[in-house]
Amino acid sequence: MPDPREVRSMFARIAGRYDLLNRVLSAGIDRRWRRRAVRRSGVGRGALVVDACCGTGDLSLEFAAAGARVVGVDFTREMVGLAPPKARGRRAATLFAHADALRLPVRSGCADVVSVAFGVRNLADAHAGLREFVRVVRPGGMVLVLEFSPPPRGWFGRLYSFYFQRVLPKVGGWISGDAEAYRYLPRTVSAWPEPQEFRRWMERAGLEHCGHESLSFGIAALHWGRRPVGSQ
Ligand SMILES: C[S@@+](CC[C@H](N)C(=O)[O-])C[C@H]1O[C@@H](n2cnc3c(N)ncnc32)[C@H](O)[C@@H]1O
Repeated sequence: MPDPREVRSMFARIAGRYDLLNRVLSAGIDRRWRRRAVRRSGVGRGALVVDACCGTGDLSLEFAAAGARVVGVDFTREMVGLAPPKARGRRAATLFAHADALRLPVRSGCADVVSVAFGVRNLADAHAGLREFVRVVRPGGMVLVLEFSPPPRGWFGRLYSFYFQRVLPKVGGWISGDAEAYRYLPRTVSAWPEPQEFRRWMERAGLEHCGHESLSFGIAALHWGRRPVGSQ
């Protein structure tokens, strides 16, 4: 399980280069994944979204562009501090807070959607995180998780593993000046559950109608589940 102090210090070190590295290392595909997540949520104008582990706010801003009101929460000040300037000038209804996703600073059942992109894998306790997301989403509302999946099998998987485990840590290290941060990524993704197993985690946390969609030949997955209507 990731140590929260180490996670925070790692993201604090790479915050300034984080967005640039996302674009370079994914060749811009990460943006498409975030837009896909927003479409899947089906949020309407004025819906309330709590975006946990929001980082520099990219997913929060995609939700805001779709008309949602968004509360973005992240425990690394250096990351979440970069989000408000990005929101300025976009007429985005966003509020960014420095807080722990395991204890979201919002009341139970308030959100139409709770989202988390590439964050749940970094939580000290992913199960506790999912339970907290269920607490915050309203009955009938959706928990949406965008996350990398373990490298796929077959020839594409071998090619991708070479890129992910050899090339990405080098390029990430050069650009960010922090090689360890970009070794942490493939290490934690390889240890992450397959989408079918993660679905069971979501169900165990109390969600129903759970499903997932594989993205980009299975290198990432978008997971969703709903809090049962009538649940307390
Ligand atoms: C890989 S970044 C993802 C950021 C953003 N969601 C995105 O899609 O670019 C992971 C983020 O999770 C945050 N994080 C990890 N554990 C957290 C926790 N317990 N509470 C709040 N934020 C956390 C880190 O600070 C970091 O900003």
